[in-house]
Amino acid sequence: MSKIIAVTSGKGGTGKSSISACLGYALAKQGNRTLIIELDFGLRCMDIMLGMQGNITYDLGDVLEGTCDVYKATTTVKLASNLSVLCAPSDPFVQLKAEDIEKITQEMRKYFEYIIIDTSAGINGSVFDIVTNSDLILIVTTPDPVCVRDARMMSDEFYKRGNQKQRLVINKANKRIFEFDEMDDLDAIIDTVGVQLLGVIPEDSAIPLATGKGAPLSSSSMGFLAFSAISRRIKGEHIPLSIKV
Ligand SMILES: Nc1ncnc2c1ncn2[C@@H]1O[C@H](COP(=O)(O)OP(=O)(O)O)[C@@H](O)[C@H]1O
Ligand SMILES: [Mg+2]
Repeated sequence: MSKIIAVTSGKGGTGKSSISACLGYALAKQGNRTLIIELDFGLRCMDIMLGMQGNITYDLGDVLEGTCDVYKATTTVKLASNLSVLCAPSDPFVQLKAEDIEKITQEMRKYFEYIIIDTSAGINGSVFDIVTNSDLILIVTTPDPVCVRDARMMSDEFYKRGNQKQRLVINKANKRIFEFDEMDDLDAIIDTVGVQLLGVIPEDSAIPLATGKGAPLSSSSMGFLAFSAISRRIKGEHIPLSIKV
């Protein structure tokens, strides 16, 4: 059974694209056939993050225009043979209908075990419908109170629309939290958002360094450990939530 994972947040810049790229890489390296679909129209970045800049022949725009078959439009990432990407159209004005994406994801379930949808921030009509219908919604927030409140609003809306499969990812957590295992700070965020925690990712310069170059995260980085724990939890493995590394 394949799983569609939507990565979403109320505010921009929370780390959705970085999380999609690093999580996709982690799942692929663990042997799972994984596809990242980039739905942040006009702000394509996944080609750079995955080291595929200049190597994308087709994108979602070609699929929506009907000039290319979906599977053919996906590109295998050089870093990991189990990882493919379907990049956002370079034209920011392409119209996206929820039913088109629904069709695309259903078709791709035949080929991939995990389909990660990297969304744009906030509540945007058709993307919202797509996210609501996913098997798992990752609500991404940073510890910033404004961001936490926006995460709550997003999550409330998804619950209202009937999606109970939401998990919280706290990104850019201060390293102090990791060094001293200060769960109290995290508990306050979890209580405000009202969604079960899937994982905490530290603020780690290794992440922009890797995604900026389109290289894998260094295996000695804290970020790498965080993504490896999150990917295993998604697969149902019991990895304790202790943040101590
Ligand atoms: N855990 C992290 N530690 C340090 N920098 C991060 C982390 N996660 C994301 N970033 C940086 O934050 C910025 C926004 O991330 P991005 O993934 O583009 O967010 P979004 O897709 O939500 O807009 C980028 O510069 C990215 O490198
Ligand atoms: Mg993004």
